[in-house]
Amino acid sequence: MINIDQYLDQKRVEINRELDCYLPSSETGAVIEAMRYSLEAGGKRLRPILTLATAETLQGDSPRLLPLACAYEMVHTYSLIHDDLPAMDDSNLRRGKATCHLEHGEAIAILAGDALLTLAFELIADYGLRHSCPGKALLIIKNLSSASGVAGMIGGQALDLQGEKENLSLADTEKMAALKTGALIRSAVYCGAIASGAGETELKALDQYAQAIGLAFQVVDDVLDYESSPGELGKPSGVDQAKSKSTFPALMGLEQAKKRADILYDQAIEALQVIDEPTELLEAIARKLVYRSS
Ligand code: IPE
Ligand code: IPE
Ligand code: MG
Ligand code: MG
Ligand code: MG
Repeated sequence: MINIDQYLDQKRVEINRELDCYLPSSETGAVIEAMRYSLEAGGKRLRPILTLATAETLQGDSPRLLPLACAYEMVHTYSLIHDDLPAMDDSNLRRGKATCHLEHGEAIAILAGDALLTLAFELIADYGLRHSCPGKALLIIKNLSSASGVAGMIGGQALDLQGEKENLSLADTEKMAALKTGALIRSAVYCGAIASGAGETELKALDQYAQAIGLAFQVVDDVLDYESSPGELGKPSGVDQAKSKSTFPALMGLEQAKKRADILYDQAIEALQVIDEPTELLEAIARKLVYRSS
């Protein structure tokens, strides 16, 4: 039996060490300091962990994939910096610290987000060159660009803003969550799979798994906004209601939203069944993220 808490702690250490290499404290400058400020603030590191855990499930070379995993954390951190801006969710707390724009000013926070996004793509291209696998790197770049762009995260964020002004239908709320949050999680799993040479059946099953946990992740994020405290979350709570966001609890009530997360969890586990290799690691990660308290 895998000790999932130990596994997650270990991966966070490896990821944090790798992230440090790209933003060494010897490098100074307002934008670099703001990038480091938000990256070093921590967080669950779910997306890079999913890249590595997918690779490990397929017997891939997980340590070699660390730069790819870090690329996903950079895109995610960029999305949080921009999500917190006054023009978006106007938030003052992230990862237990003042948000990037409050600490470094709005202009530098915008640039730090932009710089994290572009650095992510540099890391993936560099991986392809260094390991002589430009084809795999290109596939990952294509997938990540689409997942983080207007057909993915950006599109979802735009729907989220629209959902403050009008009540989205349940179908549109699901679409918004799948795009703003699910797309990057899905891409992180895809990256681990492609880099490890996954076959078609594995790719399809892993994608179904990732879609289910990606959507569940946002359902639970919405539930925690109602039920948890800033102390636990490291970010404000109760903000979705205050901003009249279209969220799962707002649309279906807390109990139904939790049931939706349960169903998505079951779907994720079910999707893994066709994979020949043991999938207990990915199952344990799904359990951790659906039944989390922060
Ligand atoms: C928060 O993501 C934003 C969403 C996409 C719901 P996380 O809950 O993964 O935030 P960190 O990385 O742990 O801070
Ligand atoms: C954010 O969704 C999704 C992103 C793409 C960053 P939320 O706005 O619900 O995330 P939190 O609750 O601020 O972390
Ligand atoms: Mg938001
Ligand atoms: Mg937000
Ligand atoms: Mg939220």
